[in-house]
Amino acid sequence: MHSEWIFNQIESLKITKKINLLDFASGSGRNCVPLSKRNILVTAIDKDQEKLNKYKNLNNINTICFDLETKEKWPLVEKYFDIIIVVNYLYRPKIKNLISLLKEDGFLFYETFSVGNEKYGSPQNPNFLLKNRELLDIFNKELIPLSFYDGKIIDKKICVKQRGSFKKKGVF
Ligand SMILES: C[S@@+](CC[C@H](N)C(=O)[O-])C[C@H]1O[C@@H](n2cnc3c(N)ncnc32)[C@H](O)[C@@H]1O
Repeated sequence: MHSEWIFNQIESLKITKKINLLDFASGSGRNCVPLSKRNILVTAIDKDQEKLNKYKNLNNINTICFDLETKEKWPLVEKYFDIIIVVNYLYRPKIKNLISLLKEDGFLFYETFSVGNEKYGSPQNPNFLLKNRELLDIFNKELIPLSFYDGKIIDKKICVKQRGSFKKKGVF
């Protein structure tokens, strides 16, 4: 089942033209596969080739198998994406690099676990849990925050997550 929050964010944009979307750490494709069927051109990047194999031959999807946590530059074109989605993935050292991948006026929709989640299940490792207001602190200088939530949600079971939507400032 896809992330309803991500889909609501994208639906609220009322997209009418073809756009480029990056699913960052796309996993099994539960988000990018249904999005690719909505006339959206998807780039899906993940280090797990077996997962990518399940959707690498679908229309409108370009899969890239790559370890996002090495010193190597990400094989992604700067200022190319209208939308970037990140769900249930966090790697702090390079997180700000997402900003340069967005086109002006592009959107970043980010949803992952935050502190407090360790009471309810995994992840419990602080490296994978956002701190209080962390998504805002990371992105709010270069991007315009549109919405932010940090708290309990029910995603099959209770968990604690942050959800932030941001827009990249245009030239004017
Ligand atoms: C919890 S899954 C989330 C997948 C997807 N975003 C979703 O919500 O279904 C985390 C994903 O991050 C990927 N991942 C973890 N470390 C990575 C790395 N260093 N480089 C690229 N992908 C990585 C894993 O392979 C996995 O598919």
